[in-house]
Amino acid sequence: MSTKSKVPVLPVSKNLTLGLFGFGVVGKGLYDVLQSTPALQASIKKICIKNEGKQRAISKDHFTTHASELLNDESINVIVELIDDADAAFAIVKEALQKGKAVVSANKKMIAAHFEELLYLQHEYNATFLYEGSCCASIPIIRNLEEYYDNDLLSSVKGIINGSTNYILTKIFEDNLSFKDALIQAQQLGFAESNPALDIEGHDAANKLSILLAHAFGSIASPSNFIYNGITGIKQSDAEVAKQKNLKVKLVATAQKINDNELAAFVLPQFVNSQDDLYNVINEFNGLVTESSFADKHFFKGKGAGAYPTAAAVLSDIAALRYSYKYEYKKYLQENKLTLSNNYYLKVFVSADNIDKINKDAFEWIEEWHNERGNCWVVGIIHAEKLIQSDWWKADGVSLILSQNAIIENVEYKKIGKMSLQLAGIS
Ligand SMILES: NC(=O)c1ccc[n+]([C@@H]2O[C@H](COP(=O)([O-])OP(=O)(O)OC[C@H]3O[C@@H](n4cnc5c(N)ncnc54)[C@H](OP(=O)(O)O)[C@@H]3O)[C@@H](O)[C@H]2O)c1
Repeated sequence: MSTKSKVPVLPVSKNLTLGLFGFGVVGKGLYDVLQSTPALQASIKKICIKNEGKQRAISKDHFTTHASELLNDESINVIVELIDDADAAFAIVKEALQKGKAVVSANKKMIAAHFEELLYLQHEYNATFLYEGSCCASIPIIRNLEEYYDNDLLSSVKGIINGSTNYILTKIFEDNLSFKDALIQAQQLGFAESNPALDIEGHDAANKLSILLAHAFGSIASPSNFIYNGITGIKQSDAEVAKQKNLKVKLVATAQKINDNELAAFVLPQFVNSQDDLYNVINEFNGLVTESSFADKHFFKGKGAGAYPTAAAVLSDIAALRYSYKYEYKKYLQENKLTLSNNYYLKVFVSADNIDKINKDAFEWIEEWHNERGNCWVVGIIHAEKLIQSDWWKADGVSLILSQNAIIENVEYKKIGKMSLQLAGIS
């Protein structure tokens, strides 16, 4: 027998005819990337956009404003949805799946808002839906969570998962840029969402955490089920406190097992020290650290926004379709999955321009405090439920930043009860 006959043959791959929705930062990025990868044999038949009159980099006959031209075309077997309108995106994705077409998307807002319905549609119509580009752009985190990690072993996933806020924080902390100027730069470079509030108020990172929770732990939760905030409250004085302590402030998403059955999840600004893998994740880069019982830590780093890094993830999904790859949602389908809980304590730094804006009664314990006109802060332990129940910590002039190891497992604080605020000197 010749050695040649022993070489395994790859399964016959499918021809992919794409219908693309959106020709903005990512859609155009994908178009360019596909021009450079002819071996993939995936061709775009038509592109649906919103504004007919807009100047485009390629000729007019590629485009239509009629979604049905793509959705009703039987020769199009893959819909790539890259638009910036989550409601319109859901309508497109739903119809495409119902027609049995495979769908690739990067739309975290739409996916987080309709996760269960999208699961149902995939199952009911036996259609594939892939969305690696929706979380951390170029980092292949969804497929790793889905395929590599066994649920029993994974204990936490923690990371910087929004490129534009990381870019803004880097520019504020390292280049002393104002918040406004840093945001304009992020927008000009194509890292920010069309509506920047999605990034800076933390909604985008919360949507991504919601998707990561499903693939890491099988837990389906919308952002309204966990604590999250963005970076709009971060003040220059917070940057100075961080610098004095050789720390940086990052917007960090955390999903962490707190006992055998429960999981804590939140997205909040957090102090990180130079020992932390996330410390050197700067600009539009994203970074994620997974912890598991036997493998210990893994650190993923890559570009978390921008045309080509996001297009690369979309391209990888398109390539995976050729070999019939689909998510199996194994962790969601198993019986004993972890449930989300808000029964845990966090160590926080809260600063305000006026001490009266800090709700001292919300704290279980106050460790350090500083009260100077226009610059006050408190370091203490707070129960997560207290942050869910009230918004005082999101008010104008107030910022809440988690300490490095934020989840307090030692519930001694609970037993001791509240420390006298007179003792702490701030009541
Ligand atoms: N930018 C990034 O770094 C990044 C990273 C990861 C994921 N994403 C996600 O990728 C998606 C696209 O983001 P983007 O930055 O490329 O947005 P963008 O630059 O604002 O482009 C949006 C595109 O969507 C089109 N569009 C809007 N509504 C439409 C509709 N109803 N039907 C057809 N086309 C429609 C627009 O058409 P016109 O051109 O006619 O206005 C435009 O071409 C979003 O879901 C975003 O969250 C972006």
